[in-house]
Amino acid sequence: MSSLDEHKLFEAAKTVLTENNRGNYTVPAGDLYPHQWLWDSCFIAIGLRRFDVNRAQTELASLKRGQWSNGMIPNMIFSEDTSLGLDRILWDSALSPQAPHGVATSGITQPPMLAEAVMRVGEKLNLPERRSWYKQMLPMLLDFHGWLYDQRDPNHDGLIVVIHPYESGLDNSPPWVEALKIQGLPWWAIVIEKLHLGFAVNLIRRDIRHTAASERMNQTVVLGSFAALRHLRRKFYDSKVVLNKPRLAVQDLAFNCILVRANTCLRDIAKAAGWPVPKKLLASMRQSEQSLEQLWDEPTGQYYSKNFINGELIKEPCVATLLPLYSGAIEKERAEALVSLLNKRGQYKVAWPVPSVPLKSSYFNPLRYWQGPTWINLNWLIIDGLRRYGFDKEADELKQRSLELVAKSGLSEYFNPQDGSPLGADNFSWTAALTIDLLKN
Ligand code: GLC
Repeated sequence: MSSLDEHKLFEAAKTVLTENNRGNYTVPAGDLYPHQWLWDSCFIAIGLRRFDVNRAQTELASLKRGQWSNGMIPNMIFSEDTSLGLDRILWDSALSPQAPHGVATSGITQPPMLAEAVMRVGEKLNLPERRSWYKQMLPMLLDFHGWLYDQRDPNHDGLIVVIHPYESGLDNSPPWVEALKIQGLPWWAIVIEKLHLGFAVNLIRRDIRHTAASERMNQTVVLGSFAALRHLRRKFYDSKVVLNKPRLAVQDLAFNCILVRANTCLRDIAKAAGWPVPKKLLASMRQSEQSLEQLWDEPTGQYYSKNFINGELIKEPCVATLLPLYSGAIEKERAEALVSLLNKRGQYKVAWPVPSVPLKSSYFNPLRYWQGPTWINLNWLIIDGLRRYGFDKEADELKQRSLELVAKSGLSEYFNPQDGSPLGADNFSWTAALTIDLLKN
């Protein structure tokens, strides 16, 4: 790629981040995603630090206003714009005594990318500033990771249980669709399906007002996700109560790989700040590293999420299988097995990698959200993981291809992995931010 193209791409990405700036945070996309999302803000800050470290700090620090008193950081902090009140009403976080006062949030979390983002932003500061930045963010991080182990690790095996598809970040991916099938639909959702009343649901779906329905979740998944939300709301988002009699509970592979990596970052941040990490938390962190192996399946040579309810691996492959590279906690032999999947036709080898589902999966659909399209945040995680295990050639190739993809198709939410065409929302913030990070790396 010529330097001229790189300059143009950098400027285009900066423009997206300027347009999506809402003061102390950045929305993922103007129309489709008008609130603040947790892991989006982390990816966004990772890009922002390359040209405006203060704004990157503000982006991350702003998450604090949404943190619950038990330590949870919600996946969404809702905009104060009253015309966007429906989401606030649907989640109604005020039902929980742990929710922050005066700030409306969801009642669930999202992959814990925060420690990585805090660390990378810190690397752009001088030493005294870095120490004070880390000290500012450590209470929030320690409370968040502490909450995950305290409330979401009922087996004490270090594998966090995720209780809603949206918590996984890969909402509509095959393992979650399978988990929703096992959960089953409640009677009212069956009636909606049977009587073809889906049009009524469509009236309140913001996503298909802005993108083609063929690129989004199907009706059954929407109803299943909504049923899961209603169940959590009725339990006032109390994880212990929910997990006492779980309906939908998955030891999610992507989430746990990100957590293992985040734990490493958290330990490094605490060390740099001269701040002790509680012994109990350190022990849980070590447990998570060891337990990733429980998600490995020898016959198929890959990793899966595990259904917490029946203890079985959900053997529907998806791109999460490559994220143990990013965790940094697997043996080299396992890493090699994953790289061979990446290079294999029928698996993840495709014109515009990495597809979110392997080509030979019955779920594969090049257009549908998390069921085939390529996402830049996953590429970023995989590139990082490849480097971690010394696969520099593969990392360089994937980086190059990712940049060519956005240069050709724009900074969209996701892309058709076969012809590279743009899908989902235009001008998507994490695509822009991570493009900048890849360019400057
Ligand atoms: C979608 C994605 C989720 C993301 C959100 C906002 O729901 O599945 O991962 O955080 O959009 O961009």
